[in-house]
Amino acid sequence: MTKLAIIAFDGTRHDLDVQPGSTVMENAVRNAVPGIEAECGGACACATCHVYIDEAWTERVGPPEAMEEDMLDFAHDVRPTSRLSCQIRMSEALDGLTVHVPERQA
Ligand code: FES
Repeated sequence: MTKLAIIAFDGTRHDLDVQPGSTVMENAVRNAVPGIEAECGGACACATCHVYIDEAWTERVGPPEAMEEDMLDFAHDVRPTSRLSCQIRMSEALDGLTVHVPERQA
């Protein structure tokens, strides 16, 4: 198990124990974290699973791939730390990852 922290827009912190290989989006939905809609179910086709990667983790998570970057154009209030949470797969290297949910999805 690896640790994942998702901070909801109202500041509520959701500390989750997650399976390596699962995506951040899947864990957010499974644990009913508010603000992650994930309308396309993880196909990188909706941009409603937008999150901000905590500054301490941006380098380790890395930048989005081209397809994700194109889809991020449809997200609300995109920042340099923006990612689509369905495209971030948990691993030992991301143990302790922290992400923040935006005010709203697109
Ligand atoms: Fe649709 Fe992530 S769930 S882009």
